[in-house]
Amino acid sequence: MEHATVVVSGTKIAEEISSSRSEVWRLIQQLRGLGVDVAGHPASGYQLRSVPDLLLPEILRPFLRGTIFDADIHHFYKIGSTNTAAMAAAADGAPEGNVFLAEEQTAGRGRGANAWQSPRSTGIYCSVILRPALPPSEILVLSLAAGLAVQAAIQQVDSRVKPDLKWPNDILVDGKKICGILAEMNAEATRVRYIVVGIGINVNQQSFPKDLSATSLRLVSGSEWSRVELVAALLKSLDREYGELVKDPDAHESILRRFAENSSWVFGKKVRIEENGSAFEGTTEGLDGRGFLQVRTLHGLQTVLSGTVRER
Ligand code: BTN
Repeated sequence: MEHATVVVSGTKIAEEISSSRSEVWRLIQQLRGLGVDVAGHPASGYQLRSVPDLLLPEILRPFLRGTIFDADIHHFYKIGSTNTAAMAAAADGAPEGNVFLAEEQTAGRGRGANAWQSPRSTGIYCSVILRPALPPSEILVLSLAAGLAVQAAIQQVDSRVKPDLKWPNDILVDGKKICGILAEMNAEATRVRYIVVGIGINVNQQSFPKDLSATSLRLVSGSEWSRVELVAALLKSLDREYGELVKDPDAHESILRRFAENSSWVFGKKVRIEENGSAFEGTTEGLDGRGFLQVRTLHGLQTVLSGTVRER
């Protein structure tokens, strides 16, 4: 990466990593197997033809200086689920700010019992560990703030894309899902021990199974996106939202207000709510003070605590 686009001899690389030329050859072969475009061979030297869009800690860290996310970035080429890995690490005492990124998930998890399609190097699969000094009742607001962070990051990279926040944790473009957030926590009755915020973004996928109402940033914008740029923007934006929530007493209210302003779902949307095996219909009428969605039904105002919200 430090000598991108120039030819570097195998001997020089071997010296730099205190190894042999044959080991360099073996490692270069391994990189090629992962899709990294390296020209050359041991006799002529090697040239990195293009910098890969891999979510490597060495590439991301410089963008994240000054945030809580620059110290412990874990990258996996293939993993079951970054949320599962982050929850296990948090249970073992991993500090706040640990980031887990994967090129591919083989058991990506969504809300409820849903799976999250996680094909190799096309999406962003990212989980972070947070340890907020907040009561469990604040976690919904934190997960709404994560949605705002994703929305801001997408707009920062391409302001022509207009992501819509669907309560509580989906981000849609043109009515189709582009991002999902899975927040999982370990808490006592009055204190959160840790929370893992898992974010899946459809970035460069070119198609989706017909039964999924999903799209990708590439499909909606017509061009390929840099996942590195988007993850960097996302983690910076999440750092900002999170920092405010834990430090600023007014942040809670500001998050609810901004969520409502940036979502077409919070006011006046005709919806059907499916919750715990039953369903009801109505029109959305804002968020309550804790961040729950309120729906006006024939029987009065109902608060949606969990469950699925669909447009009708
Ligand atoms: C949903 O909309 O149902 C939530 C999807 C969350 C997917 C992300 S991808 C990174 C992290 N690891 C997982 O297994 N799930 C979350």
